[in-house]
Amino acid sequence: MRIALYGFMGAGKSSLGQALARRLNYRFVDLDAEIVKYTGKSIYKIFNEEGEIAFRKLEHQVLKELIKRDEENLILSLGGGAILQPNNRKLLELKDFLKIYIDVSVPELIRRLKDEKNERPLLAHIDNESFSGFIEALHNSRKDVYEQHADMKLRIDKEDFETALNRLSLLLNVN
Ligand code: S3P
Repeated sequence: MRIALYGFMGAGKSSLGQALARRLNYRFVDLDAEIVKYTGKSIYKIFNEEGEIAFRKLEHQVLKELIKRDEENLILSLGGGAILQPNNRKLLELKDFLKIYIDVSVPELIRRLKDEKNERPLLAHIDNESFSGFIEALHNSRKDVYEQHADMKLRIDKEDFETALNRLSLLLNVN
């Protein structure tokens, strides 16, 4: 089986993906980390120096490289914008990835992202007063596409990590 976890920034895709891969004895790959490896630059630096359009091209290129190996037993965690690009969705569908949407409530996303905003290129320049409104608006602009392309969805509000992981395992019938 091949699984792709996606959802908004701060949804916990990478940590859930990593833990699930351990349970299933699958390989875990984080697409952003692969982009960093491939370019030798941080995501922040790529956005700042080359812009978002260049980042999206890289993201697609690296995804294409990654999945052309037809590897089985793989969990891939995608950056929050990757699934929005039709060319990325096409690749995932072509390789029969099970697409799981990690759907975290907006208040919880805001709570999680507040402390990490400086590491994220899309958030670093947003001032504190506008922060919640910005997250809400960005989430609103993406949520329909997130919903639309989910083979499965894990809805999370305030659950702790272990509970979320157990629910994700149950969804997949893995104990
Ligand atoms: C992005 C999310 C980030 C990263 C980049 C763009 C987005 O990944 O790919 O900063 O457009 O939502 P995470 O979702 O892992 O933070």
